[in-house]
Amino acid sequence: MFNKHIYDRLLSTRELGRDLVLLEEVGSTNDWIAQNLGGPGAARLVAVAHRQTAGRGRRGREWVSPPDENLAFSVACRIPAALGAPSPITLVAGVALAEAIADATDAEARLKYPNDVIIGGKKAAGILAELKKTDEAAWAVIGAGVNVNTRAESFPAELRETATSITIETGEPAASEAILAMFLNRLEAWLDGAAKDGVTGAVKRFGELSIPFIGREVTITGAGGERSGVARGIDHDGGLMVEVDAGMVEKFFSGEVTFHQGRESRV
Ligand code: BTN
Repeated sequence: MFNKHIYDRLLSTRELGRDLVLLEEVGSTNDWIAQNLGGPGAARLVAVAHRQTAGRGRRGREWVSPPDENLAFSVACRIPAALGAPSPITLVAGVALAEAIADATDAEARLKYPNDVIIGGKKAAGILAELKKTDEAAWAVIGAGVNVNTRAESFPAELRETATSITIETGEPAASEAILAMFLNRLEAWLDGAAKDGVTGAVKRFGELSIPFIGREVTITGAGGERSGVARGIDHDGGLMVEVDAGMVEKFFSGEVTFHQGRESRV
């Protein structure tokens, strides 16, 4: 069971995550946070679910998260105007989560564009960032599912080749409270930095933490179908630049990225 006292002791934010709501059962924590955006103190809320009955992944997929083994939570943050549109906040969230996992555990956490956390070449956490507007502000609802203490047999057979957990990779149990508090500490610091100086620092950090992808063959699967090419880097606005034809570079802000060569990642 999530221990609020441990979490409170480790949280050092000004605002993010100051009001923690523990939900025994909820459809999706992203929806719960979105429904509470209009209220006062929305920017202080973080919702942690023991069990989600309709957890959602990116691209409309289902997100299955065994209770007591995984961490599922959502938080809302106002999008700093300096981040522009389309917002690279999803990259910033990935950076904060990879850093938090490295802070709180012995796992070597890396990123796969845009924000899957990869440990030992397999996916250990995913982020669903959804943009919402209220009269007061533009918000990003950031939901993350972290495979913290998941046992190998808890993964459905079809995911065992590509999914892992922190405990599988480190051989030790990990504390969800520490991962969440450290994620929020890191996220607030990155967002403050981005509001002041823009997103260049976060994009650079993303490059340092991500599995090597420059020069690799990629396929981007999005709403409009598939596009393949060679990854050339991340632009200053967080877009993935892909050379789709000799000398012709297109920028992608969403979609599923698959890498075709190299052994750094199996996902
Ligand atoms: C992905 O990698 O596809 C993103 C997974 C995001 C899952 C989390 S669990 C908490 C929050 N609530 C949801 O319904 N989804 C996110």
